[in-house]
Amino acid sequence: LKLLHVDCSPKGARSNSRMLGQHFIERLRRTAPMLIVDHLDLAANPPPHITEAFTIATYVPQTIRTPEMHQALAISDALCKRLLGADALLFAMPMYNWTVPSVFKAFIDNIVRQDVTYSVDTDGRYVGKLGAKKTVFLTTRGADLRSGSPLADMDALTPVLRAAFGFMGILDPVFVDAQPVQFAQEADRSEALVRAYGELSAIADRWSES
Ligand SMILES: Cc1cc2nc3c(=O)[nH]c(=O)nc-3n(C[C@H](O)[C@H](O)[C@H](O)COP(=O)(O)O)c2cc1C
Repeated sequence: LKLLHVDCSPKGARSNSRMLGQHFIERLRRTAPMLIVDHLDLAANPPPHITEAFTIATYVPQTIRTPEMHQALAISDALCKRLLGADALLFAMPMYNWTVPSVFKAFIDNIVRQDVTYSVDTDGRYVGKLGAKKTVFLTTRGADLRSGSPLADMDALTPVLRAAFGFMGILDPVFVDAQPVQFAQEADRSEALVRAYGELSAIADRWSES
């Protein structure tokens, strides 16, 4: 099993999303010793924002791109290759201002690529090309946005992930949302982490069985 593991938190060892992601991998490794992990640290290596050259090159068919156009897409091409080359995906990230951290938005802008991660068929329909990759979105939130909480309507993170990755063909992702891990009483914070560790263990064990 080849897993692409993407981290986004600028915090090092203190990061909740990094710790939880590590737990998932260790759990998976117990039953899948052949596991290969490709770790992509977006906090250490933020993908570039989209440039004008990118906007032009991306819609020019690959066979007629100039060397400059290939250059403008080089980082994006490399990121897409890592994504397409994985059998399974783990995206770990903090919620920042109710949505994805900006490094992850820059990552999305680099990987949603026509004729690479999606295509348009002859009827004009969009077809995602990522296929049936097992996918976990692991998010950590300082506040509690679970249904029933006064902040439940503020979740602008889950819809972004569902839309962008659904478009590329990831239709059945699993979400583990650790919340509240910061703006809450100590007991509620530790309960949220225990819950998230438990959910991740269960997913890792399910993956190992299939
Ligand atoms: C710049 C910034 C913005 C944040 N915005 C939110 C937010 O909108 N909602 C929320 O619940 N928590 C928010 N938080 C709290 C983080 O999501 C929370 O601390 C999370 O555990 C961080 O993950 P990490 O430990 O992996 O970095 C924010 C934290 C920072 C530093």
